[in-house]
Amino acid sequence: MSASNDRLVDAYGLGRVVAEPGVMPQRAQRLDPALPLRPGELLLDVERLNIDAASFKQLAGAAGGDPARVVEQIRAIVQARGKMQNPVTGSGGMLIGRVREVAAGHPAAGTLKPGDRLATLVSLTLTPLVIDEVLAIHPAIDRVDVRGRAILFASGIYARLPEDLPDALALAALDVCGAPALVARHVRPGMRVVVLGAGKSGALCLAQAREAMGGQGQLVALDISGPALEALSGLGLCDAHRAVDATQAVEVLAAVEAATGGHLADLVVNCASVPATEMGSILAVRDGGTVIFFSMATSFTAAALGAEGVGKDVTMVVGNGYTKGHADITLNVLRDNAKLRKLFQERYV
Ligand SMILES: NC(=O)c1ccc[n+]([C@@H]2O[C@H](COP(=O)([O-])OP(=O)(O)OC[C@H]3O[C@@H](n4cnc5c(N)ncnc54)[C@H](OP(=O)(O)O)[C@@H]3O)[C@@H](O)[C@H]2O)c1
Repeated sequence: MSASNDRLVDAYGLGRVVAEPGVMPQRAQRLDPALPLRPGELLLDVERLNIDAASFKQLAGAAGGDPARVVEQIRAIVQARGKMQNPVTGSGGMLIGRVREVAAGHPAAGTLKPGDRLATLVSLTLTPLVIDEVLAIHPAIDRVDVRGRAILFASGIYARLPEDLPDALALAALDVCGAPALVARHVRPGMRVVVLGAGKSGALCLAQAREAMGGQGQLVALDISGPALEALSGLGLCDAHRAVDATQAVEVLAAVEAATGGHLADLVVNCASVPATEMGSILAVRDGGTVIFFSMATSFTAAALGAEGVGKDVTMVVGNGYTKGHADITLNVLRDNAKLRKLFQERYV
């Protein structure tokens, strides 16, 4: 496949890379979001950006919590890079938009039509984007309402917005839909499962784990926030919970030892939104167990050297944002769990 030959479909968007030419769009410093649309591409009128939690936290911190300055930073990043990729965290997020045009050669040509509403499931870190206007920012839910346009390549995955769930609810869940899908793949009845981080992805992971465990095993939730844990415990989403700072590895170990009667976890799912939580996750899992690092703040170096440093033979899984069927699995968690859906509705809609 040639990126420079416009008659061929450039499925990975290589031809949109301005700097450095030759790298994949996600690694590029800058993408070209200009029209016209090229063969195999999909053009969306953008309505909302869901900024990745780790990215939003970093931007808000750098802005001293001032929403107007967060907006300025987002505009500056998109202007400079042609995509929303936080240069500090490296992460992006996803968006909701309406189909404006489907170019010939796109897999959905003939299926999608102008006006269809989609959520992109491919990261904003590789999505050519132009923001014409910022309409509103919702710091509590990492969301920015905009008027703009974005381009999806032929390889870019997306989900049609479901008709039975409000947009904001679907977007909140789809943003982290890789996590419950990984839980569905790894959790078995009888396991001791620890979920670190009781936010959006953590809550969905707990609900999915509860389902997969079939009433056997133990489900432990950890978070720095007592009220967040109480809320999930009140929904029956965990058997035990401990308020602990996940960056304090020794405290995490003590909490998990106490909660599991010294057994430690068979599986730890790291859904925290802050850096330096690798060691706590590794200490919390038994020798031979598995840690899923869904957090974007995970450092490969800290995880690899951390496990080696304590002589722990654990399987460490990078939380791939894409797992087959991840959108349906996640939306079904909300469809099947009315109480969790209500909590999400209160928090994110
Ligand atoms: N792998 C992927 O494809 C993918 C996709 C999307 C998102 N992510 C990542 O997944 C992570 C979680 O996302 P999310 O949307 O679930 O975030 P979220 O809703 O903000 O949840 C994160 C939770 O971690 C808690 N937390 C913060 N600092 C902590 C600490 N020191 N110790 C223990 N808990 C702490 C937060 O508490 P407070 O609210 O009190 O701060 C919050 O409850 C983020 O890093 C995000 O970037 C990964």
